[in-house]
Amino acid sequence: MNVLVVGGAGYIGSHCVRQLIAAGHRPVVLDNLVFGHRGAVAASIPLYAADLGDEVAVGKILAEEKIEAVMHFAAFAYVGESVNDPLKYYFNNVVATLGLLRAMLAHGVKKFVFSSTCATYGVPTAMPIVETMPQAPINPYGQTKLDIENALKALAHAHGLSFAAFRYFNAAGASEDGVIGEDHVPESHIIPLAIDAATGRRPALQVFGSDYPTPDGTCLRDYVHVDDLSRAHIAVFAKLEQPGAALFYNLGTGKPTSVLEVIRAVEKITGLKVPYLLAPRRAGDPPALYANSAKAVAELGWDVRFGDIESIVATAWRWHSSHPQGFADR
Ligand SMILES: NC(=O)c1ccc[n+]([C@@H]2O[C@H](COP(=O)([O-])OP(=O)(O)OC[C@H]3O[C@@H](n4cnc5c(N)ncnc54)[C@H](O)[C@@H]3O)[C@@H](O)[C@H]2O)c1
Repeated sequence: MNVLVVGGAGYIGSHCVRQLIAAGHRPVVLDNLVFGHRGAVAASIPLYAADLGDEVAVGKILAEEKIEAVMHFAAFAYVGESVNDPLKYYFNNVVATLGLLRAMLAHGVKKFVFSSTCATYGVPTAMPIVETMPQAPINPYGQTKLDIENALKALAHAHGLSFAAFRYFNAAGASEDGVIGEDHVPESHIIPLAIDAATGRRPALQVFGSDYPTPDGTCLRDYVHVDDLSRAHIAVFAKLEQPGAALFYNLGTGKPTSVLEVIRAVEKITGLKVPYLLAPRRAGDPPALYANSAKAVAELGWDVRFGDIESIVATAWRWHSSHPQGFADR
């Protein structure tokens, strides 16, 4: 299929672009490059530097590139910033996304894959998280994603839009060949921060909270490899042939990993010490978040190829050690 990858110059989107090519599809990237990197997208792939909320620009691309499906990765995703500047998040993650959806419907494009998040569950009372658990986000970021999930349900019902919303846990790692990887500015994810602390490019890593009711006192999270995530987006295509399909899937390994375990994995893989400081808990950080992804496994034939934290860190290290400054266009 001809697939428009919105946010395709960002971290997860750029990995999905490469998986699309590997699976024989034709990706076209739309990204306004506020956070994305031109260098994350091969020169052979069309890259439109436009805003996803620009319905005229999007409509033109949909028509000219004969787009059949849209994958939507673009969003602002800093939880703390969303609390302090909610309008910024509602405008980009909700208003602009509704513009994208309106342009799609106007052009008869009715297949949509959406990057949602485990943050839509808020602070769940039980683990692992299954898709049917209540969704009660505790910050505007999570709320904006839930708002789009709800809008998608209504559009599926009213207009026959077929969609899959994937609720990612913690995306991590880099392409196995080390060509692309994670380069957020500012960086907020633990593996790149720990690698940078180990190599001396950043100060000591802050570990927020060491008195949680977890085996070592630090938070437990579910780290899922970016290429594993990407493959689910392609595996769902067959299901989107059904008009009005409204699909929700968790994507995680199901394996809880503590912050200290991540640090130990980075030390083992890099052979370097990760300097870290124990800091107080951060407001709104649940002690544990990990997925039950049995639905994606059963319905999509999805599998986790990077099932342990060390194999994920190994790919991240390959990228970071060969690109210490990140992408060249930073
Ligand atoms: N990284 C994670 O662990 C994680 C976890 C759960 C959910 N998600 C979701 O996955 C998606 C991708 O995350 P990521 O880590 O790759 O983020 P990213 O910031 O690396 O990529 C997002 C891309 O979208 C682009 N973008 C943002 N607003 C845009 C706009 N208005 N028009 C056009 N382009 C725009 C940015 O330039 C960037 O390239 C996001 O929607 C995020 O909320 C990520």
